[in-house]
Amino acid sequence: MKTDDPANAAAPIEDPLELRSRRWFDRSDMRGFAHRQRMQQMGLRREDVIGKPVIAIINTWSDLSPCHSHLRDRANSIREGILAAGGFPVELPALSLGEVLVKPTTMLYRNLLAMDVEEMLRSNPIDGAVLLGGCDKTLPGLVMAAASVDLPAIVCPAGPMLNGQWRGCKLGAGTHTRKLWDDRRIGKISEEEWIELEQAMTRSAGICNTMGTASTMACLLEAMGLTLPGASTIPAVDSAHSRMARSCGELAVTLVRTQRRLSQVVSHKSFTNAAMVFAALGGSTNAVVHLLAMAGRFEVDFDLSKFDEAARKIPVLVNLFPTGDQLMEDFHFAGGVPGLLFRLKERLSLDQNTVLGTSLGASYLGTVNDETVIRTPETPVSEQESIAVLYGNLAPLGAVVKVSAATAKLLCHSGPAVVFDSHAEMSKRIDEPDSGIEENSVLVLRNAGPVGGPGMPEWGALPIPKRLLARGITDLVRISDARMSGTHYGTCVLHVCPESAVGGPLSLVKSGDIIELNVPERRITLRVSDNELERRKAGAKSAVQLGRRGYTDLYRQHVQQANVGADFDYLVGRSPGLEPDIY
Ligand code: FES
Repeated sequence: MKTDDPANAAAPIEDPLELRSRRWFDRSDMRGFAHRQRMQQMGLRREDVIGKPVIAIINTWSDLSPCHSHLRDRANSIREGILAAGGFPVELPALSLGEVLVKPTTMLYRNLLAMDVEEMLRSNPIDGAVLLGGCDKTLPGLVMAAASVDLPAIVCPAGPMLNGQWRGCKLGAGTHTRKLWDDRRIGKISEEEWIELEQAMTRSAGICNTMGTASTMACLLEAMGLTLPGASTIPAVDSAHSRMARSCGELAVTLVRTQRRLSQVVSHKSFTNAAMVFAALGGSTNAVVHLLAMAGRFEVDFDLSKFDEAARKIPVLVNLFPTGDQLMEDFHFAGGVPGLLFRLKERLSLDQNTVLGTSLGASYLGTVNDETVIRTPETPVSEQESIAVLYGNLAPLGAVVKVSAATAKLLCHSGPAVVFDSHAEMSKRIDEPDSGIEENSVLVLRNAGPVGGPGMPEWGALPIPKRLLARGITDLVRISDARMSGTHYGTCVLHVCPESAVGGPLSLVKSGDIIELNVPERRITLRVSDNELERRKAGAKSAVQLGRRGYTDLYRQHVQQANVGADFDYLVGRSPGLEPDIY
């Protein structure tokens, strides 16, 4: 190789691929010299990078993301796969969002992660990407970014943690935290037992083992053909997970060589299939917000109503907490997503594309090994639908309720509102003897939406007052513009749109007003006259406090409402043509 050229020009490239990375490495000017020189500074040879597909491993690992504690090892497996396939791997760290530790809520930062990764992919010499993550907001954020840049990319899901066990019972992360905390609050669990539980619930690296948001999103991305078949349920610490990661690296190189961009994989059919699978999973309501945001990035026309339509057709078939009583490891060995897709095959568009370049029907259908976990439509996990989308004068742009996790008798309920203006107020008052909360009350929490929270925290499953728990009352109708953890349960009407902080009708409710919930008719009604609501509106003040600083202010100014995915208004859609100038 000629290395004494004054401009350090690249040697002729044998590979005829039109690689994006060549704009950086395969040029004869001073910049080309500098780009190659700096790679060689790291001990690489110029032929290591020039003319090879440069694959970014977008790694969301951090010491404060326990679900991702294995991802540095997995990045190495991906790296091996990329090298074996003739590509050049580059590992890039992205904003790491550990669901439980990040405050006030990771949802505030999903769009920041998406922006971080979109700009990182665009501004660097990258031809394709492996998106490595799993904890709640991570996969949606990564896919939103990759969709906008529209490079060839594949998702490598982090995988679920091992089953939790305590005194002979299966423990599900999140679900049992809330259940057992209620027992702790009323003295059914001792301090010693509580400390013992801390060690028993989360036994390994990996995402929550219930059908929470992370599991739901991983399964949906597999159903959309964005992962390898069977990838989303492999336990994080199973050796199969490392092999899957290596295969992701290999496939990413093929995706670049065949120039299979994400926009050629994902279509309207992918989202329709995802809504069907969501219904069968009894998935987290958070996935509704994420899928709508992703649809916006892919420029696919998809709205809230599709989730309701799917839920009316498909019952909950996957027996996992919080709707059922099994865990992700059980789902994996029962057949995982390929087993579920096989069960749903009459309902799906099997000609949907996938990252493999083959159709969903050709490559992603498997077998059902255990019908107690992947049920038949005749033996569903719940007699209730997975989700319902509600409208009415309290939610003109929609709200959702996870029907399968609700109490059947509360699905048609009228009762007096007990209103909390903030989460702090709710926490202070909920257990006060004179809170006014009774068995038929409807708890209302406002200022908890995208703008109000900010970031739509998971406050929607408001706690049940201790004195009601002691009487055996474990559920009440609860209404908010917040979200709810996918691992939680209860009759919680969520994502009320428009939210109270931007003047939505939730801001007009007063304690004592009658609220009527009618899920079969998909209605949520505030029994207050239009005239009275107009009068209250005239005297209302905005609860939004802008003028803090930095990202939170930016978020509040640009976040959209939950019914369209709570993405930033200026990030919706694709931007594949926005290539940086090289100088
Ligand atoms: Fe990470 Fe649940 S806390 S997936």
